[in-house]
Amino acid sequence: MASDNKNENIIWHDGKVSYEDRCQVLNQKGIVVWFTGLSGSGKSTVAVELEHILNEAGRAVYRLDGDNIRCGINSDLGFSDEDRNENIRRISEIAALFQDAGVITLVSFISPFRAMRQFARERAGEGNFIEVYVNTDFETCRQRDPKGLYKKQIQQFTGKDSVYEEPLNPEIILDTVDHTPYECAMQIYERIWGERHE
Ligand code: ADX
Repeated sequence: MASDNKNENIIWHDGKVSYEDRCQVLNQKGIVVWFTGLSGSGKSTVAVELEHILNEAGRAVYRLDGDNIRCGINSDLGFSDEDRNENIRRISEIAALFQDAGVITLVSFISPFRAMRQFARERAGEGNFIEVYVNTDFETCRQRDPKGLYKKQIQQFTGKDSVYEEPLNPEIILDTVDHTPYECAMQIYERIWGERHE
């Protein structure tokens, strides 16, 4: 990691333990698996499944969920475009720290804007970032309505009066209509850890 701070009085302080040292202790590499999609698309459900699969497989894994993070460090943010950008800026930095710690980091946020998802990718570093598009259409999400939010007619709701920019080039696309959460989680697991022999 390097400092992006423009203040010349902020000096990056290196430690004695490198990223490689941390990975050796954990016997794995850090990675950010970034789930994006509408509310109700199934991001969190699949992330929960994948977290369980990885934990059972003896991996150091941690899940960062939009609703949960908005209960803590991001509890001061709402749903304007500006607040959503700040929400994703902060979680991008946090995810990059987890990745640098060597942890498999599952991030499930709507993250509606391409530019901010690109920011998240750059903070994690190309090669350490997998964008997973949970491609569930608005009508299906509206019918599922797991939290009763579609019924509530909330202002600035994603896909309604707040924009969602579909990923153009995600590493993985999930179909949660024809596949179970477990099957979707296994699709990610096999794609990523099938290729990585660590
Ligand atoms: S993001 O757009 O800023 O990435 P985030 O993933 O943190 O959103 O939070 C989305 C969650 O907040 C949804 O899963 C839903 O439970 C809740 N929510 C509350 N208000 C809204 C809204 N206006 N639009 C979308 N989700 C909302």
